[in-house]
Amino acid sequence: MPNLPKIPIYVSILGLWSSMGQDEIYERWFRTPLEKHGAVLVWFGGRWSVLVSRPDWLTDLFRNEDVYAKAGSQVKIPHAVIATLVGDNIINSHGANWRLYTGIMKAGLQKKVFETGSLLRQSRKLVDVLIQLQREDKGERGVLVNSEVQKWAIDVMGENFLDLELKSLGQPDNHVRIEALQSIIKATLFKPMYFSFPDLDHFPWLLPSRKRAYAIMKEFDDILYDKIMSMLERRSKATDQPKSEEMVSHMLGEAYKAGRINEKQFRDNMKITFLTAHENAQQLVNSMFWQLGVRVDIQQRLRDEILATARVHPDPGQEVINSLPYLTAVVLELLRLFPPVSQLINRVAMRPAVLGGQLPIAKGTFVGWNAWAVHSNPQVWGEDAREFRPERWGESVEEMQAKFRRETVRGTYIPFNAHKRKCLGQGFALLQVKILLFVLLGKVSWVVDPEYRLKMTPGGILAPLGCRVILTELEA
Ligand code: HEM
Repeated sequence: MPNLPKIPIYVSILGLWSSMGQDEIYERWFRTPLEKHGAVLVWFGGRWSVLVSRPDWLTDLFRNEDVYAKAGSQVKIPHAVIATLVGDNIINSHGANWRLYTGIMKAGLQKKVFETGSLLRQSRKLVDVLIQLQREDKGERGVLVNSEVQKWAIDVMGENFLDLELKSLGQPDNHVRIEALQSIIKATLFKPMYFSFPDLDHFPWLLPSRKRAYAIMKEFDDILYDKIMSMLERRSKATDQPKSEEMVSHMLGEAYKAGRINEKQFRDNMKITFLTAHENAQQLVNSMFWQLGVRVDIQQRLRDEILATARVHPDPGQEVINSLPYLTAVVLELLRLFPPVSQLINRVAMRPAVLGGQLPIAKGTFVGWNAWAVHSNPQVWGEDAREFRPERWGESVEEMQAKFRRETVRGTYIPFNAHKRKCLGQGFALLQVKILLFVLLGKVSWVVDPEYRLKMTPGGILAPLGCRVILTELEA
């Protein structure tokens, strides 16, 4: 292990006896050593790993995937619950498998033009549901946004990537099983004890809660598989219907039928698409409700831009949405202060290496990154790094896009990672969140419930927990 400060092991399992959010944990144990040394040693997944936050070292890490190879839980802890959930897939695979999956799925993930009609429809539905909940709110404590946002994110993912109409939005909680399972999965996975000591997952017969966890992962796997297989069969029989848009699920289905991937690879890539294409947008929108609900000045400035555009373009296409400067700046700034994927330790050194020409890394060492650390570092983003200030992105969309690209390449802005393995759903995710804001701010204003105290998630993903907002409908 390189000569770096060690974060005490107990910090990795703090969640067992403390309700500290990851922001508090970061301030107390990580910020000082990380900002001083650019990397620390953390106990994660049953071993000491190197966690990096220095931008030039991150750039080296992200550029050289042949040296620092992706090695997710399927390599590191193959017996663990998390590994049975995600398996070997387009995000965590390396080499030939990654090339195979990317060759099959990329066209479905990165369309040049995404159809905005369905995004507008789903966003309007979410806003209507929230308004209805606010009207029914007798105690005037406002609306708990997360569960409705999750349903919206899942329905959007289903329609745009899997060709599935999941129809969870507008239904009571627990009505659509595959949606309800996501809340159980999230609560099951992010248990610090099992993350830190995954060897405990070797004993499901001893620990009934782990036995249940494996059963839940299997239920999700089987429900999704059945839904996709029936959809593919229906499509193959419906010769009279116009051929629908090519989606990731169709592409994976064809590759499976042709024997290019086996059943497990088919299932694993379906599951990761389901998870990654809803979870991150969900958490970003939760953060958005909090941030714009406490900065109503920014909310109003954004509303002015949106209402002026909506008068001319009530049903905007991708081009109009992407031409709005303040909307672009707000979303980029949200991703800076609330990167949903705040930390990942899923790379392994394939040979002895020297990170950034300075930090010796032995072969077999696990290496990870922390986006919140980079984004909130005053040496990187200035003294106001922790302030929400969309203006820092510039004035014109072109200026913002250039800054976005520049900071990504430099390793100073990494909500979607950077270089070789950066997010393939980035374009879609940005559009999805911008369209939701366009619809939402055109219909309501909101404030965070004054009794709500900001509490961030303990780990894994970064977002406020249990945020309530009080909505007011705008006059027509
Ligand atoms: C706000 C939304 C999103 C955020 C913040 C986000 C973030 C990320 C991050 C940080 C990575 C790198 C993971 C790693 O290093 O292991 C990643 C990879 C990836 N993301 Fe996203 N993502 C988002 C939405 C999406 C969507 C909607 C899709 C569509 C299915 C998607 C598909 C992917 C894929 C396929 C990869 C793997 C790329 C590769 O390794 O070649 N993401 N994403």
